[in-house]
Amino acid sequence: MLLRTRSGVEPLPSEITPRPLYESRRAVLRAAAAGVAFWSTGAAYAAPAVRAAADAAPAKLQARPSSYSTMERQTPYKDVTGYNNFYEFGTDKEDPARFSGSLHVRPWTVSVEGLVARPRQFGIDELLGLAPLEERIYRMRCVEGWSMVIPWIGYPFAELMKRVEPTAGAKYVEYVTLADPAQMSGLRSGVLAWPYVEGLRIDEAAHPLTLLTLGLYGEVLPRQNGAPVRMVVPWKYGFKSGKSLVRIRFTDRQPVTSWNRAAPQEYGFYSNVNPEVSHPRWSQATERRIGEDGFLQRKRPTLKFNGYGEQVASLYAGMDLHKAF
Ligand code: MTE
Repeated sequence: MLLRTRSGVEPLPSEITPRPLYESRRAVLRAAAAGVAFWSTGAAYAAPAVRAAADAAPAKLQARPSSYSTMERQTPYKDVTGYNNFYEFGTDKEDPARFSGSLHVRPWTVSVEGLVARPRQFGIDELLGLAPLEERIYRMRCVEGWSMVIPWIGYPFAELMKRVEPTAGAKYVEYVTLADPAQMSGLRSGVLAWPYVEGLRIDEAAHPLTLLTLGLYGEVLPRQNGAPVRMVVPWKYGFKSGKSLVRIRFTDRQPVTSWNRAAPQEYGFYSNVNPEVSHPRWSQATERRIGEDGFLQRKRPTLKFNGYGEQVASLYAGMDLHKAF
């Protein structure tokens, strides 16, 4: 249920569950999810009740569980929201949480253009209601060697694709982040050529694991995590998961992505998590799970495709992943 106020649409106070309670409830949900895939019948779920939040307050999002979720222990909320890469707000891990308060997340529009039959703009409320929201608990692996397990909320990017109808010539998707120096203090640094651009091959974008993401831990996305809408591509290094998206373009050419442009020998277009292919300056064979693995502890092995090989390996059949890294 919603309360409509002068400032926008807000959840009823009774709908906002204290996080500790919510987190314990999640264990029950996960157990249920492991037992039966009842949600796949599509019968029991209404559209998400809460579609929007006032700019100031994080609003709860209701989402159905997903069979794509991992059962691994979730990274604590304070680490998910306090240890971030979002260079538009600075390069220290604490900078995004400290400096992203200046980002205006409403109103917000995402322009979808290029090789599509129906190019158009989507407002953020429309994106929140475009398809049933799912909770996807994904392993995330950063190219720097750390990992997290994050309960994202969103729906497959393929849902958006259906609405705009890519043409036969569309082979890739490019997605672009906001770059407004008035709101993003980190843009003063020349660490990357702004705006932040990432991309996928169209079959990667259409893969059911690729999530257009609007929330985490039961709430709308915090700014430091890419509010109000971002990509999440769990079998690739984290930098492919572009934040705070404003433009999505379907194209016939492989997009020139920010990290590939900055250091092509170090960051390839594909950037699939692959312990067999080292970064030129460090091995990718192991990782440290934030919030769990101490600095003196032995690191845990990294899994090919971040453990999602069963779902995605076929996308790369016949490709040499040492060359197409
Ligand atoms: N998106 C933008 N616009 N700017 C960035 O600096 N960093 C990327 C990715 N998306 C980045 C970005 C990197 S390197 C990682 S590891 C993930 O965001 C981190 O996402 P998280 O902070 O929500 O965990």
